[in-house]
Amino acid sequence: MVATSLIGCNQSSTSETAGTDRLREAVGARDILLDAAERPLMLGANEAPTPAWVYGESPFPVLRARAGQAFSAQLINNLQEHTSIHWHGVRVPNAMDGVPYVTQMPVLPREQFTYSFAPPDPGTFFFHPHCNTVAQLGRGLAGVLIVEGDETEPFDDDVVLVLKDWRVAKDGSFLPFLTVEGAARSGSFGTLRTVNGKVAPRIVVPAGANIRVRLVNADSTRIGELGMNGTTASVIAIDGNAIAPFALEGWRLGPAMRLDLALRTPDDGGEIALMDYFAAQPVTLATLVAQGDRRRNESFMPAALQAHAFPEPDLANARNHQLRLSASAVASTYPDLPPLVLPDGRTIDMMDAFCATPRTLWAVDGKTWPQAGHERMPPPLLSFSRGETVRIEFLNTTPHMHPMHLHGHTFKVLSSSRLARPVHWADTVLVTPNERVQIAFVADNPGNWMLHCHIIEHQDTGMMGWFHVA
Ligand code: C2O
Ligand code: CU
Repeated sequence: MVATSLIGCNQSSTSETAGTDRLREAVGARDILLDAAERPLMLGANEAPTPAWVYGESPFPVLRARAGQAFSAQLINNLQEHTSIHWHGVRVPNAMDGVPYVTQMPVLPREQFTYSFAPPDPGTFFFHPHCNTVAQLGRGLAGVLIVEGDETEPFDDDVVLVLKDWRVAKDGSFLPFLTVEGAARSGSFGTLRTVNGKVAPRIVVPAGANIRVRLVNADSTRIGELGMNGTTASVIAIDGNAIAPFALEGWRLGPAMRLDLALRTPDDGGEIALMDYFAAQPVTLATLVAQGDRRRNESFMPAALQAHAFPEPDLANARNHQLRLSASAVASTYPDLPPLVLPDGRTIDMMDAFCATPRTLWAVDGKTWPQAGHERMPPPLLSFSRGETVRIEFLNTTPHMHPMHLHGHTFKVLSSSRLARPVHWADTVLVTPNERVQIAFVADNPGNWMLHCHIIEHQDTGMMGWFHVA
């Protein structure tokens, strides 16, 4: 297979992308090259560039696929350590899930790996490595996958805003990505906040227009309380999944979570600000600046996206599980277990081989992973037979929030005891302190799937497990 479309090889399809702090988009949905390498990146008003790790010339490439149609991307590892790509939220076949030692062998330096699948569901997704994630994602390795096919009427513009903070010093060098103080609490926050790799970018959008804004939280740590100032925005999708439009009034967007908005832009010269209201002093993350002639005269009605048909959980016959999120100072010990079989038939049995960190701070259901010093993979937290409905209650016994993510499945968030949210489909759900959150899904995707907190320092210090669908 010949790779024809290289991210970063100046292929912006519209002149609009130049100089407006928009992300670079790849052309086509097949044979995309994702060249993971260290490249200097000037961040904010720093004195010198940061040695970022990016998939191509610029950070956070945007790829577009179509629901149900073939997509392929070739990862070329030009880093000094092994890596892989996890397609977060996409219900891929297990062999394409990108978890080293669990779904594939790691892609070693100078090696390549082609991911190819037909994404079943339209929406806004993202992709990132899944080993030493605290450093690899911390250094910038991430991108956006837009799966088209959910619009009922065309928008006048489609703006992707990737939120990521960087742990950098003024001289551009990285600060430690994992600190014990951070990992034991809410995580180590970035020192420089950016959208699309820029500090408070100003992005030109058409005036008086109906636009779609895709918010992607690609940060390892920070949970925002996001709102739009200067317009009434409607939420039209959560984690990429269509929802009946409702007015955005501040939404907690944790790491890996996405939110799609529809809004009407102001007239020429008017501005809309993306705000984070989480801190006492609200932060302007980005500004959309309207330019040109008014595009629409009719009054604004946010167009609902086409609802996507996920397998409906059969709650009357569900298997119920509670997963308790807790602190843990000790790593679990596991008896010898049979080796894990990769989708390609190879077997893995050495715990040494996994990307283990030596410290343990957190547990799911009283069990911890990863942890050093044990020779084998832990047993799965849960095992299901294909087609059964699973209802999981997350119970957070810690004083911190945890965005919990499951691989390979899109779940329905049924209820929560604290945060007000509509029933919706998601792949990552925020569980606040002392909260109980119930989710349900049909376990219909066979394989070994990760389940973890997406605050990467929590994931890396124990708040991770896996489940098996036979
Ligand atoms: Cu976004 Cu297991 O990851
Ligand atoms: Cu967590």
